Amino acid sequence: MKFVVRKAKIKDIPEITKMWKQFMKDHDDTVIPKDPRMKPQLKRPQTAHNTFSKFLAKNIRSKDATVFVLDCSGTLIGYAIGFKKKTPPVFKMKEIGYLSDIYIKRGYRSKGLGSKMIDELREWCKNKGLKYLSLIVYEKNPRAQKLYSRKGFYFHSREMRMKV
Ligand SMILES: CC(C)(COP(=O)(O)OP(=O)(O)OC[C@H]1O[C@@H](n2cnc3c(N)ncnc32)[C@H](O)[C@@H]1OP(=O)(O)O)[C@@H](O)C(=O)NCCC(=O)NCCS
Repeated sequence: MKFVVRKAKIKDIPEITKMWKQFMKDHDDTVIPKDPRMKPQLKRPQTAHNTFSKFLAKNIRSKDATVFVLDCSGTLIGYAIGFKKKTPPVFKMKEIGYLSDIYIKRGYRSKGLGSKMIDELREWCKNKGLKYLSLIVYEKNPRAQKLYSRKGFYFHSREMRMKV
């Protein structure tokens, strides 16, 4: 099988949105059960897929963002979204790259494709003059964390939450 990483087009939005729905279901089935406190916080409205489609369109059109898809002979099997993000204004470094989503369809995992997508995002950041790429990963997603660590990501800060 031949895989190509390419920039997403507007016409890819329905297919990417389908993958996003599966991504959310994967998290519902594998990540949330490991920490039930997450459940009420990650509920989505019925219209969430429309919101996501608009978010995709915005990022596909923006010069400060990128959406990559993995194309396997016309079938999309993964996607990744990255964009420039402002840092707090007190710092000299004004913006960094941010990996907002990465998803590979089940059945195509453990073939180095996730790693390939990260390489593409890294290249995109370099071409945009960005010095760092950052992401947020759930504590209970060890598979993704393992991949990120292998690629060179390290913990810079950790978000803490409490119920009030
Ligand atoms: C996280 C995710 C994107 C990783 O994608 P992937 O394509 O499986 O990633 P890779 O194949 O590059 O690396 C994963 C594993 O495959 C192994 N691998 C890498 N290249 C390989 C190859 N050529 N052949 C076989 N295995 C390989 C790696 O060693 C790694 O194994 P590890 O668990 O021991 O580290 C994927 O599991 C996914 O979509 N998960 C659901 C969505 C998600 O959680 N996204 C992250 C949100 S923060």
